[in-house]
Amino acid sequence: MIQVNSLTGKRLLLGITGGIAAYKAAELVRLLMQEGAEVQVVMTESACRFIGTATLQGLTGRQVFTELWDTGVLNGMAHINLSREADALLIAPASADFIAKIAHGLADDLLSTLCLARNCPLLIAPAMNVQMWKNVATQRNVATLRQDGMTVLGPGSGYQACGETGAGRMLEPEDLLDRVRSFFQPKYLEDKQILITAGPTFEALDAVRGLTNPSSGKTGMAIAQAALEAGARVTLVCGPVCPPFPAVDKLIRIISASEMFTAVKSEVESHDIFISVAAVADYRPAECHSSKLKKTAAEITLTLVPNPDILQYVANLPNPPFCVGFAAETEAVEQYAAEKRKRKKLPLIVANDAVETIGSNESSLILLDDEGAHYLPKADKNIQARLVMVHIARLYNKHKGCTHHNETS
Ligand code: C5P
Repeated sequence: MIQVNSLTGKRLLLGITGGIAAYKAAELVRLLMQEGAEVQVVMTESACRFIGTATLQGLTGRQVFTELWDTGVLNGMAHINLSREADALLIAPASADFIAKIAHGLADDLLSTLCLARNCPLLIAPAMNVQMWKNVATQRNVATLRQDGMTVLGPGSGYQACGETGAGRMLEPEDLLDRVRSFFQPKYLEDKQILITAGPTFEALDAVRGLTNPSSGKTGMAIAQAALEAGARVTLVCGPVCPPFPAVDKLIRIISASEMFTAVKSEVESHDIFISVAAVADYRPAECHSSKLKKTAAEITLTLVPNPDILQYVANLPNPPFCVGFAAETEAVEQYAAEKRKRKKLPLIVANDAVETIGSNESSLILLDDEGAHYLPKADKNIQARLVMVHIARLYNKHKGCTHHNETS
């Protein structure tokens, strides 16, 4: 079984700088440790004004380092030793001042010296007032960090301790944990182009009404996120769902199945893999009224016409990408999904129970392919998405190997 959600054995150096969000670092440490990571904390002098070293020492079971000139370190080289023993250095919270320092390569305390002397990846979770975040100097510094290959996590947006509202909040510990997990995912689909459809479609009946379904788009977005984590370049064609969207390379927002079809047709040729997660409406009203239909006492009859089957269209192209379908069923889940896989000529279909899954944060899945059925017991949709992506990568590489062999033989 491939472990996709665990940080077991990962050695993290957590740097805490001076900001009110420092209190959240304690919760972050707890979550990281719960995932199996080993956490070594280093704090700046101003961080110690916001949270005590005893808290972090208690949580990690390790001495917390704060001083460049710590006499407790045998060779006096804490700034070198600590980063040599780490798989990554995470700064959370990272203040505007600290970001400015590392953008310029300054090293005047233990943590900034560690950043400069490190030979491991550096992840930064900014935390500051909205105006400080928006300030052109901060934006320039953050752009420099990105250019220099550092990973910037967040910031989030919302109410701030200073009473203002806007961008600059440190991501919540749960969210940061998820980003750190993502960071360590193996890049098994590096540079592959993946086209994904997600969410419901909305089939207009008149100017204000239409037919749709309660798909939240969560599975599709989790699949898109997992594809990004695996190193793929992702185009997401998404029906009417609420943000946030994963940071895909191209996001195309559509309303109806016809619009989704148009978007997929124009994108598909340049993609290696097509994953059709969307809950596409099978029918649309034969007629769409441009103004609001007026209520009368009379019954009305609605004529519905079938929508194009987007996945079937793609799978039947002369040179189709590797196609993956999803099947949400309310009964005989495995049997119906298997029939659908055959009918649509798909190498892989992912089946689930529609009632249990729609709108929920969790799902149990059955993956059906030429080898048979693979069962993924109930888990968070983000975890399931990573497992599905590992399976897709394995089948895709096998399939690629076969087509390559056929082309050259
Ligand atoms: O036949 P059924 O709608 O159950 O098939 C589900 C799969 O087909 C999903 O992958 C869905 O995204 C895709 N589909 C589609 N276009 C449609 C209907 C379904 O691409 N019109």
